[in-house]
Amino acid sequence: MRKNPVFVAIDTPDLQRALTLSRAVKDHVGGLKVGLEFITACGPDGVKKIVEIGLPVFADVKFHDIPNTVAAASRELARLGAKLFNIHTSGGEVMMREAVAAAHAVDPHVKVIGVTVLTSIDDTLLDSVGQRGPAADQVVRLAKLAKASGLDGVVCSALEIAALRKACGKDFLLVVPGIRPAGADLADQRRVMTPAQAHAAGADILVIGRPITGAKDPAAAAQAIASELAGTMA
Ligand code: C5P
Repeated sequence: MRKNPVFVAIDTPDLQRALTLSRAVKDHVGGLKVGLEFITACGPDGVKKIVEIGLPVFADVKFHDIPNTVAAASRELARLGAKLFNIHTSGGEVMMREAVAAAHAVDPHVKVIGVTVLTSIDDTLLDSVGQRGPAADQVVRLAKLAKASGLDGVVCSALEIAALRKACGKDFLLVVPGIRPAGADLADQRRVMTPAQAHAAGADILVIGRPITGAKDPAAAAQAIASELAGTMA
């Protein structure tokens, strides 16, 4: 298999559990994702400890503020060693450009990814916050703005991959959560694809949490996903 596209979502407030999980799956995944729960509980030192494990770390921080503040926070994240992080594209072009410039001044290899419309927001909710729908169109509109503003890609649902590939081209990174191996518990995810389906559809990074972290043997679960992907990527 070329590069393993799986980033495991380490969603826990417990640093020891996060480190144990990360070390267990390290050899079977391509990266680790930490989000608001982990970062709020464990802080920058926690993020550094995850970075020290040695895999690329995706900080799922979804920054959204004035350009100066987002740029300053982006600089600090790059200093912590995150290789990927995300910001809300609805913060606008200047915010996005300044975030990229600030992160790249620390590490030119950091990838900045956009959040378009959260998958929890449907057409009615979008209308209630005064954004132009339908949601599917707003996703493409914001992804194009992200690309034009220098972002490397966007987070999207598996169902949005085809439209975004068409709109933003082959080099735009598509980071896809909502992945479930065949037969896995869906939990609160609704519109899911298997790892192989999402990869075949054109996802660059697959964000997978509970199917790995909630398994009795997380390393074996990660390894099984890697093998399934290797079969389809050979
Ligand atoms: O456990 P599960 O595989 O559902 O985890 C998916 C991860 O991706 C979680 O960390 C979740 O916060 C994140 N995510 C998501 N859907 C989005 C954006 C992020 O599930 N639209």
